[in-house]
Amino acid sequence: MKVLGIESSCDETAAAVVEDGKRILSNTIYSQIRLHRDFGGVVPELASREHIKRIDGVVTVALEEAGCSVEEIDGLAVTRGPGLIGSLLVGISFAKAYSLAVGKPLVGVNHLFSHLYAPELTGEILYPALGLIVSGGHTSLYAADGVLKYRRLARTRDDAAGEILDKVSKELRLGYPGGPVIERLASTGDPKRYPFTFPRFRDGSLDFSFSGLKSAALRIAVEEGERLKREDFAASFQNAIVEYMVEKLVIFIDQAAREGRPYRSLLLGGGVARNRRLRERVLEEGERRSLPVFLPEGDLCTDNGAMIAGLGFHYLTAGILYPYAAPPYSRYEPKGYQGEC
Ligand code: KG4
Ligand code: ZN
Repeated sequence: MKVLGIESSCDETAAAVVEDGKRILSNTIYSQIRLHRDFGGVVPELASREHIKRIDGVVTVALEEAGCSVEEIDGLAVTRGPGLIGSLLVGISFAKAYSLAVGKPLVGVNHLFSHLYAPELTGEILYPALGLIVSGGHTSLYAADGVLKYRRLARTRDDAAGEILDKVSKELRLGYPGGPVIERLASTGDPKRYPFTFPRFRDGSLDFSFSGLKSAALRIAVEEGERLKREDFAASFQNAIVEYMVEKLVIFIDQAAREGRPYRSLLLGGGVARNRRLRERVLEEGERRSLPVFLPEGDLCTDNGAMIAGLGFHYLTAGILYPYAAPPYSRYEPKGYQGEC
């Protein structure tokens, strides 16, 4: 069964054809990074306009590269949320119209679940798995009991990890996107030079909060002024973000093991999962506990159509279709909607 997947939730216009939820026949991505660089962050209105310009071409290339005609596609899958509402609307409107025009069924895929699914495109995830999704818009931990059996354990209450990398980088005029720039600077810096403390919630919640780390970073930059060692600053800041996330990951792994329902693997996804330091640390913690870690490679970490088409196959075979009247959503899944737990 061949599924055409369409993704437009943020600043990548992407489409892909995937067979049986596994075999990637094409994976076409148009990145808008250059468009947003001067602003130091994604400008939603510009992103929507660019999606409108690109989507037709991206879908055409994805079909061509897969060597598929529209008739050979068994169904369409589109990201229905969460994401930027204007950006989502472009992909969703396109997919709905396309589905009606060619008479193929349409499914609407939760973007975060598709990140959890991405490692299935290159391997076989061992369930139950603990997944960390970390990008410019999200930082969440999920328990995955199987495909489409996802439960959120923790989320950020304010900024996302990628967002503070981008914002701090913008304030310090280091470049855009902040994550890779800070990673490059950090490679020759001392991670112990500038101290950061991790936020804790008084109610004992294990949710994330990144706004304090962002403020601390900006305060250090102001206090140090001209004396600021950029490499040491980048290494310390990156290390704080990574260790904060790894600390939570470890708490959940150990808690599940203590309760006699251990995880069998770890998953990592989202743009920040490209970060080498984060990958190394998650691998280390996995190894220490004999837990395999599924780390999608480059293009399958960041937003792409293949993960949408891949997970879309499972929605299709489960008969969870996307009602044409359903709207996109920017943050959380509307309650009781379309078969997720
Ligand atoms: O998943 P993504 O492409 O888009 C969404 O935000 O949904 O993630 C983009 C984020 C940006 O915040 C960017 O700074 C971060 O991923 N990022 C990285 C790296 N590459 C991209 N963060 C840390 N290290 C990297 N190598
Ligand atoms: Zn994403």
